[in-house]
Amino acid sequence: MEPITKTELGLPLIHKGKVREMYQYGEDKILMVATDRISAFDVVFNEGIPYKGAVLSTLSNFWFDKTQHIIANHIITTEMPENLPTYLEGRAVIVTKAKPLKIEVIVRGYLTGSGLKDYKKTGMVCGIKLPEGMKDGDKFPEPLFTPSTKAQEGHDRNITEVEAAEIIGQEKLDFVKKKCIELYAFGHEYLLSKGLILADTKFEFGELPSGEMVLIDEVLTPDSSRYWPMDKYAQGELVSLDKQYLRNYLETLDWDKTYPPPKLPKDVVENISNLYLGVYEKITGEKFLTK
Ligand SMILES: Nc1ncnc2c1ncn2[C@@H]1O[C@H](COP(=O)(O)OP(=O)(O)O)[C@@H](O)[C@H]1O
Ligand SMILES: [Mg+2]
Repeated sequence: MEPITKTELGLPLIHKGKVREMYQYGEDKILMVATDRISAFDVVFNEGIPYKGAVLSTLSNFWFDKTQHIIANHIITTEMPENLPTYLEGRAVIVTKAKPLKIEVIVRGYLTGSGLKDYKKTGMVCGIKLPEGMKDGDKFPEPLFTPSTKAQEGHDRNITEVEAAEIIGQEKLDFVKKKCIELYAFGHEYLLSKGLILADTKFEFGELPSGEMVLIDEVLTPDSSRYWPMDKYAQGELVSLDKQYLRNYLETLDWDKTYPPPKLPKDVVENISNLYLGVYEKITGEKFLTK
């Protein structure tokens, strides 16, 4: 099947993100469609990744379901109404429209990525002091809760908990932090049982008109998380089964990480598609049905 990089559904489009398209659906609902677009360093690539949107959406549904005992989420239904195109099946959900919190929150269990860069420079990750001598892939004594701004344009910026509290208020921050740590712990333990290490992951929360705070967007997917195979990790090797694979490839190019994006070679596109399908199967224990 050809990758889907844009949709036109004849419904009011309220937001077009890097990956998702959000259509108004009734008064207080959104039809959230995950396309096959991929971005890195906040630049969207021209090539779509076959099945990616469906993998992200179906995997998020899996996790939304599994984490309901920790926190409620925005899903209303994963079934598509009959009057919508069938290609949406598996890649779209109907969700409650929420007011997204103005921060994003990352939980990091292991030192890597931008955290590693920060640590090498400052001995800290997002302002949190850490033991000396840590190296790429080392586990933190405790998972770190590291908020960032949610930029409309351009890059998110890491902020301290004090700054985050100034943006959303201390009470909401305390709630979100507690839930994030529980969600990470749950995901980490679950994935260990599947032979995967959850190195870090990003969550987004939204507020309902009732004031209830719920989990929105996507959860514990290869776009929002880093996962490493445990057997390789035990041998001292960090193998990326997620979007980090693309970032690693891009580091080999002479590209300044600003628009326009370089063309992604066919084999890179195929490898990412296979990584995402593979990780879906590892996590859910079910074959991803590619039609
Ligand atoms: N239930 C919801 N209500 C309102 N906004 C949502 C909901 N779920 C997700 N969103 C927002 O919709 C957008 C999803 O599109 P995405 O492509 O992931 O955007 P981004 O480029 O910001 O990553 C995000 O801005 C996210 O915060
Ligand atoms: Mg997003």
